[in-house]
Amino acid sequence: MQELGKQQKMVIGMVGLPARGKTYISRKICRYLNWMGFKSKVFNIGNYRRQICGTDCNSNFFDPGNKDASKARDECALLALNDMINYLRNEGDVSLYDGTNTTKQRRKLIMETLQQKFSEVQVFWVESICNDEDVILRNIQLTKLNNPDYVGKSSDEATQDFQQRIEQYAKVYEPIDMDENISFIKIIDIGNDIMIYNIQGFLQSKLVSYLMNLHIYPRPIYLSRHGESQYNVGHKVGGDSDLTQTGLMYAKQLGKYFVQELEGNRNIKMFTSTMQRALRTSNEVCELLGVEYYSLKALDEINPGICDGLTYQQIADKFPQDYEERKMNKLTYRYPRGESYLDVISRVEQIIFEIERSRLPVIVIAHQAILRCLYAYFHEHEVPEIPKLNIPLHQVIKLVPAAYYCKETRIKIDPMTGHWEIQDEATIKKVKSFLDL
Ligand code: F6P
Repeated sequence: MQELGKQQKMVIGMVGLPARGKTYISRKICRYLNWMGFKSKVFNIGNYRRQICGTDCNSNFFDPGNKDASKARDECALLALNDMINYLRNEGDVSLYDGTNTTKQRRKLIMETLQQKFSEVQVFWVESICNDEDVILRNIQLTKLNNPDYVGKSSDEATQDFQQRIEQYAKVYEPIDMDENISFIKIIDIGNDIMIYNIQGFLQSKLVSYLMNLHIYPRPIYLSRHGESQYNVGHKVGGDSDLTQTGLMYAKQLGKYFVQELEGNRNIKMFTSTMQRALRTSNEVCELLGVEYYSLKALDEINPGICDGLTYQQIADKFPQDYEERKMNKLTYRYPRGESYLDVISRVEQIIFEIERSRLPVIVIAHQAILRCLYAYFHEHEVPEIPKLNIPLHQVIKLVPAAYYCKETRIKIDPMTGHWEIQDEATIKKVKSFLDL
């Protein structure tokens, strides 16, 4: 697991008017950081407010002139801050403070409190500014109308009240200013413009590039392993074997599936590894689709080092200690002269950036360990679960990331007949079993 440093913790504070995607951004950052091995958690001030003050708060509650309500809201913000500090003191590496934090005074209070509590803490502010009324309205409709504040209200009534809530916040909103002398990134109009200031250290720079790649345009991401390979049939790990006849058939059927699924759309991004089995599969797909792919080493299968070319049984016989160690902790175990799953995660991080950045549908044709890592990122799986995720051969996993979750469909393709069997989310949940190697 990665460490920020023994003493050093990080707080990421969100800033912005309501319905500017702050919760979306903080969840994405949190997921990314957890996936990278930094223990991270979002503290949403709104949830504290709902728990303490109830959900029956109309826009008047957010009027800065409403003294009692302002006091109650400040108390909720402090409670969240307190819990966040405790989390960092105990297990956490990074806390995300998800609220509007719209005034300089509030930000100053947070900075001072954190500096008092920690000898060393990095605070990084992320401000989301959006002036596009259509985007704001879409955001209200997508994410706010279902929130507990509006249970039993009509959609028009809820939208109107939420717009009035925004106006209340706007009365006192002070965008982050350089004179506050804090580290920040401003994301303007969903990434059309970015401003950064006083970025400190490795993690903040990483987050800046991550945030620069984010957008909210929905597009499908398709993951598939290569077709069955010679090594798959021999139950051997590693190697660079070619496809079997069945594997080749799958590659052809996969191409047909994509032609139909994408309805002839050639405007897509496709990534594959540099290994024969993946290249052969991708070639078949591309020939039918009429597109080109990017072949990247970052997508090559986990390197099994000295175990390359062996079956799991042969590994157990030849290297019993390694076999046991891997069984005990598949995530951190590194094959001698090879890789661990943690190594793979840091290697495929570049692919996450590519996928996040793309506004076009994305196809990734790769390998079991690689796809486990990518899949876990989109589904917020706990990192230790990654090596056990079920990514079978001859199946397409279609992911469509939405505001707060990722929709999944699995399409099982019969290599011989081309028959597809579609599993929706409910079925996937039922049949999701973890491999127990
Ligand atoms: O068996 C196919 C394969 O892609 C191997 O090349 C690779 O070593 C293995 O899967 C990764 O899966 P696991 O981590 O479960 O051994």
